[in-house]
Amino acid sequence: MTARRPLIAGNWKMNGLRADGLALAGELAKRMKAKGKAPFEMLVCPPATLIREVAQTVAGSGVLVGGEDCHAKASGAHTGDISAAMLADAGCTHVIVGHSERRTDHGESDATVKAKAAAALGNGLVAVVCIGETEAERDAGKTLEVNARQVAGSVPDGATAANLVIAYEPVWAIGTGRTPTAPEVQEVHAFIRKELAAKIGAAEAAGVRILYGGSMKPGNAKELLALADVDGGLIGGASLVADDFWAIAQSCP
Ligand code: 13P
Repeated sequence: MTARRPLIAGNWKMNGLRADGLALAGELAKRMKAKGKAPFEMLVCPPATLIREVAQTVAGSGVLVGGEDCHAKASGAHTGDISAAMLADAGCTHVIVGHSERRTDHGESDATVKAKAAAALGNGLVAVVCIGETEAERDAGKTLEVNARQVAGSVPDGATAANLVIAYEPVWAIGTGRTPTAPEVQEVHAFIRKELAAKIGAAEAAGVRILYGGSMKPGNAKELLALADVDGGLIGGASLVADDFWAIAQSCP
């Protein structure tokens, strides 16, 4: 099997004023430095207002910084938006695209997400492409179908094991304290890898990190991260508490 280094990613969402965000970033940087060579990669995705200072705070620690979204275009009349080049310029190496909250709150389609991911790749960023079914879709037995459609529609041309991360986030598990069972998670992750192989080739798909997201906590991380096709986590609520985020990272096999 291709060795995939687990990626533990925190999505801070619209949380964190300067003092709290920098304290959290500083604490994680301190722990990563003390650990030396970690068996996992750690990524934090703060709100845009904090990216620059978080990047400065974690510099040299091994903690990576990502944006929570980017615009598909390079520049122009898009009030309130941020381009992939701006994120890279501010110190990001990664950007989340297609989070279900963006898909819902901002009506983002697979085509929009694909264009954003392409912009990320074009600016040297790793695209963390989020997919996942709603509760109604799962109840209707459409979980695999929905995730297949989102992989096909959201993954950009030119995606490789090096520049693409997929985050499987069942919408009904986000912020709810509920998760699929471990076998259910493994089934979807293995399926996503198969769909990816059809799109980018088996060799690249074997190296792509597929993260699980949705109520990952210190108490369930070990079981989820041990699954064969789970290569890390995209963590919301628990990523805002240094001890919890760190405990999840320590649960990597
Ligand atoms: P929670 O970990 O708060 O469920 O959020 C998951 C998520 O949406 C990460 O992107």
